[in-house]
Amino acid sequence: MAAQQGPPRAGRRISRRDFLKLMAAAGTVLTFTPFIDWGKFLPNPSGNISERSKVELPDGSQANVKTFQVNHSEAVVYPKSDDPVLNKEAFRIWQFIRLPEELGGTNTDAAAFRMFSMVCLHLWCLWKYWPEPGRKRGECPCHGSMYDPLTGKAFAGPASLQSPPSNVLPRLDLEVDNNGDIWVKPPNWSVDGNGIVGFGRFLKA
Ligand code: FES
Repeated sequence: MAAQQGPPRAGRRISRRDFLKLMAAAGTVLTFTPFIDWGKFLPNPSGNISERSKVELPDGSQANVKTFQVNHSEAVVYPKSDDPVLNKEAFRIWQFIRLPEELGGTNTDAAAFRMFSMVCLHLWCLWKYWPEPGRKRGECPCHGSMYDPLTGKAFAGPASLQSPPSNVLPRLDLEVDNNGDIWVKPPNWSVDGNGIVGFGRFLKA
């Protein structure tokens, strides 16, 4: 997914300022953990991942359209590091969802799946997908933000009141090969691309 070209938009400048405010708020937490090199944990927005990566499930297998259940989700790590400590960091945790049938989950291509950052856009708790009838949405346990599993857009709770792009979860693009195995395409870590973890993404029309 290519970043949009052209002159900076007002929204982008505002977003950057909002991001700095967010980081300032987070500084309260960071103050109590002075010996951690936080920069190592964050996916680098300017970093370049040029290869596709498999969607690796918690049991170590690669997600496959023939076996992954409809209306089901798993927490997966991306980008995966050789360091198991880094792989537990929240900014690398994504919710891999096969949509419910009524949202296209029985398709056998990438359209049946979503992969959103699990870091809630409000204050960075981890949300998850709830497949039960009457829910079928992402919910954050901290302050009740809810996310649309189709788009990643917050539709209830405090995250839904935040200005774009901080009301839409970062989303990774997926592809399915001839064996049905599912892959993550190389991301574009920007608000106009796949988004910035903990900050958000502009939703394309
Ligand atoms: S951190 Fe998720 S709703 Fe507040």
